[in-house]
Amino acid sequence: MPDAIKKVPLAVKVNGRQHSLSVEPRTLLVELLRENLDLTGTHVGCDTTYCGACTVLMNGAAVKSCTIFAVQADGAEITTVEGLEREGQLHPVQKAFADAYGLQCGYCTPGLMLSAFELLTRNNQPSEKEIRRAIAGNTCRCTGYQNIFKAIQMAAENMKGA
Ligand code: FES
Ligand code: FES
Repeated sequence: MPDAIKKVPLAVKVNGRQHSLSVEPRTLLVELLRENLDLTGTHVGCDTTYCGACTVLMNGAAVKSCTIFAVQADGAEITTVEGLEREGQLHPVQKAFADAYGLQCGYCTPGLMLSAFELLTRNNQPSEKEIRRAIAGNTCRCTGYQNIFKAIQMAAENMKGA
């Protein structure tokens, strides 16, 4: 019988809550989020860094959590889609995706909202080209993207008043 894989300790802050746990070194960040912390809003579409369904923020930067080992997030602050909501209120980005019909099946939506959030945090008046660049790593198979652009433009307006 092969030796058990030795687990390694890690500490990570997710959506403002500190967690200390032990994981196998091969554990991916998306597995940590979904399986250890039960944050299933982060989706897995391709597992090969293509689709962006697994996008989360790591220290404020949008990253594909299927491509990062959990241990690489040791000491980091992670934001998942569950962390956008505040006290039962949808974040302006979430509200805009709903109001502008920026989704159909919704599988891509958590990742898109986090890419949009990251863009709008550093640029509250993005051009269409800047929006396109910000979500270039997020694939949507349903919408044709037009309502996603509208949602992000609406979110920019909403966030100015927030
Ligand atoms: S699941 Fe990570 S990029 Fe597709
Ligand atoms: S809404 Fe279905 S993949 Fe984007």
